[in-house]
Amino acid sequence: MPRVTIDNQAVEVPEGATILDAAKQLGIEIPTLCHLDGCRPNASCMVCVVRINGRADLSPSCATPVVDGMVIESETEAVHEARRTALELLLSDHSGDCLAPCVNGCPAHMDISSMNRLIAADDLRGAIEVVKADIPLPATLGRICPAPCEPSCRRAAVGGSVAICKLKQYVADQDLETDAAYVPTCEPHCGKSVAVVGAGPSGLSAAYFLLRAGVDVDVFDRNTLPGGALRYEIPPERLPRDVLNGEIDVIRRMGARFHADEALGAEISLEQLQLAYDAVVIATGGVDTDLLGHMGLETTRQGLRINPESFGTNLEGVFAAGGAVRPSKLAIRSIAEGKAVAGCVVQYLEGKDIQRPDEVGFNVRLGKLTAEQLTGWFESASREARHEPENPVQGLDAEAAREEAMRCLHCECGAQEDCRLREQAAKYQANPKRFSGGIGRPVSLRVEHPFVLYEPGKCIACGLCVQIAERDREALGLTFVGRGFNVHIDAPSGARLDEALRVKAQECAEACPTGALSLRAGVAISEPR
Ligand code: SF4
Ligand code: SF4
Ligand code: SF4
Ligand code: FES
Repeated sequence: MPRVTIDNQAVEVPEGATILDAAKQLGIEIPTLCHLDGCRPNASCMVCVVRINGRADLSPSCATPVVDGMVIESETEAVHEARRTALELLLSDHSGDCLAPCVNGCPAHMDISSMNRLIAADDLRGAIEVVKADIPLPATLGRICPAPCEPSCRRAAVGGSVAICKLKQYVADQDLETDAAYVPTCEPHCGKSVAVVGAGPSGLSAAYFLLRAGVDVDVFDRNTLPGGALRYEIPPERLPRDVLNGEIDVIRRMGARFHADEALGAEISLEQLQLAYDAVVIATGGVDTDLLGHMGLETTRQGLRINPESFGTNLEGVFAAGGAVRPSKLAIRSIAEGKAVAGCVVQYLEGKDIQRPDEVGFNVRLGKLTAEQLTGWFESASREARHEPENPVQGLDAEAAREEAMRCLHCECGAQEDCRLREQAAKYQANPKRFSGGIGRPVSLRVEHPFVLYEPGKCIACGLCVQIAERDREALGLTFVGRGFNVHIDAPSGARLDEALRVKAQECAEACPTGALSLRAGVAISEPR
């Protein structure tokens, strides 16, 4: 049996094994896109390259058989750079959006598409769970938020953007009106406690997400009632107090203890809080920088100085977010920061290196599309124009909300959670614009099959689906079409995908390393396995 060394570890492998097989045997992870166990090597993506001692060029590990005595390196600078370049070349002509454009526009990055899908399916319980995964005060925001997500909505080009904010309000109002409003499940108590100073949007949000993570929370506020600017600056005609109180009550039921009429620097001191709690979050809104300076906190002209990557102030265990750092009139931004600071505090309490958790990760974007390019996305969406509520405070009624939700095009990539191209691009910090002079492939979504969607602009021509279809039982199968950068797969002789893939569609979609072939959301699959 040949014996090889990879990254200074020796291993014996069966005759005919590849370098990738040997690496797997050693537990060394080499990234792959066009490789699938059981399929012939195609060696088209070059993401799996390694360095073999004595060879000038790097070699694809998935297609290179080992030879006795080989010495291989899989983690050098040059190997990493080559993998990054391979990914950037694949991305240079990749036409897709990892995330729906509205998610990028929403400071809290709420999963708007899933909310819309659940409203359209009349699953309001599911919808409120989706909303409250990112936004603790949706009924409140539905009435006051200027909806920065909506200008990015793909439907803006056809009948007006989806009324995202009013749909969120509808879901939250319906929930508050039930006898059993949704109270999110919290992780088991972790034994740590945090003082949140300020019960405005950022403080309430920080408290909510800390509670969800199993942290004990006391919220201190200088006012008699919680809500901060939401209660004391927005008139009740615009934001009815039963709505605000109802949403705060959910946070109370999750375990928050509210302490009224306790102002920092007057009734309570920072020193006391530091002694009594494992961490302190200052979320007081606008601050008196002189007062905070006397407490030993560093300030800027706008508010508290923080490390933007961790929300940490200059004092150990003291964090700050929202208007206490920088004035903002946008409550959704304060709420998003409350969530982010809570994530940082949880990492701090766990003794981890803090990484700001509110980034959306690697993301390619299509930019603006024309109505013609959007044809495929309209296959299952309503063509009606946007519904506006007659009374914005009361919001949409049930019928209008369902119809509005059906206008959503669900622009996110069907593979956003398991796309290997996205995963590796994030890992190797690939820049999708590095080779952006490419032709830019046409954007299209083909809805021809009952369980799978096909987007040729995301195909990296790995051929795995072609092999799977030809390997067994597909009479027609798939073939490569196009030239140069525009090579992609298709059904032969102008056939449709549902004719080409009668029994192997699911397997092809699961094998596809990108979102080119993806399973349709919410569709039951009835294919022989
Ligand atoms: S195929 Fe992957 S990289 Fe492309 S849009 Fe989808 S998730 Fe993003
Ligand atoms: S159509 Fe739907 S998924 Fe697409 S941007 Fe608008 S709300 Fe988001
Ligand atoms: S559609 Fe087929 S050829 Fe294209 S990336 Fe997916 S599996 Fe590979
Ligand atoms: S070349 Fe090896 S996985 Fe693509």
